[in-house]
Amino acid sequence: MSKILVIGASGLVGSNCYAYLKSIGYDVIGTHRNFAAAESIYFDPLLSTEKELQSLIQQEDLVAIVYTAGLTFVDYCEKNTEESYQNNVAGISKFLPFVKKETKFIYISTDYIFDGKNGPYFENDTPNPVNVYGKHKNQAENLIRLNIQNHLILRVTNVYGNEIRQKNFISRLIIQLKENNTAELQLPFDQLATPVNAKDIARSIASLLSNNSSGIYHIASTDLITRYHLGIRVQSYFHNSKLKITPIKTSNMNIITKRPLLGGLLAYKFLIEFPDFSFTNVDDFIKSQV
Ligand SMILES: NC(=O)c1ccc[n+]([C@@H]2O[C@H](COP(=O)([O-])OP(=O)(O)OC[C@H]3O[C@@H](n4cnc5c(N)ncnc54)[C@H](OP(=O)(O)O)[C@@H]3O)[C@@H](O)[C@H]2O)c1
Repeated sequence: MSKILVIGASGLVGSNCYAYLKSIGYDVIGTHRNFAAAESIYFDPLLSTEKELQSLIQQEDLVAIVYTAGLTFVDYCEKNTEESYQNNVAGISKFLPFVKKETKFIYISTDYIFDGKNGPYFENDTPNPVNVYGKHKNQAENLIRLNIQNHLILRVTNVYGNEIRQKNFISRLIIQLKENNTAELQLPFDQLATPVNAKDIARSIASLLSNNSSGIYHIASTDLITRYHLGIRVQSYFHNSKLKITPIKTSNMNIITKRPLLGGLLAYKFLIEFPDFSFTNVDDFIKSQV
């Protein structure tokens, strides 16, 4: 049976990759760091010895590695540059020399490598990150492109979906709406993105693997929506909601991190290669949760 290693299987994208790739017959090994997910093994490249890296990464019959690990809290990365560098760049840099050339290295990147001046973006648009997280993700992409020929870089944004910790924006909002407490939520009306379900990322990986594709792909659904309108969309499924969602301009929010505004990704290249693939959308996910 073909084996796949998922680094970060306790996270949103990683857990969906773990479950989906397993469900279609791969022998999947998953890793976690602080949050022990079912059946996963502890792994942190930064704290691993050469021998440990070798035995995990160079195991026999490993057809692919899906590398989802990273420090994803954008504001935290802005304030903790060195920690962001260690988790988003140094860990990968230590990992890559052990990847065998017959193993496909799949990395999950982001639209935050762009400046958000004229998204949604195609694969060959020029990166110009505006914050620490985006810079480090871009650095990691460059390391992979330089050092690993047999790679796939999948850029995604605004990921939602089933996850044990339910920490993605849509899941948290659904929980809040189910509790139906009186509250006010201000959401930016000028940050545009293309939300995608983590399971669709896993499905796209399976397609790309079956085609032995390589290079950069943007993975995005048909939703092109601002954070405010996304909030309103989720709320529309809850009648008599006491949550008051109001629009706010990003520049009026009390955040230190610059964010790409006109962001999002175009999955045209992927869909041309896989015309039978169809992405689910935000409504499909909300309906499955209410
Ligand atoms: N979520 C999004 O909207 C989004 C958008 C664009 C791109 N991405 C990218 O997609 C990838 C996955 O995101 P996600 O939302 O699934 O993140 P997540 O839920 O925070 O999961 C991150 C995973 O990485 C593990 N991890 C973190 N630092 C690690 C380290 N130093 N060594 C080993 N494992 C480590 C975590 O383990 P523990 O939790 O067990 O500690 C967890 O399993 C990230 O690279 C992110 O940059 C995400």
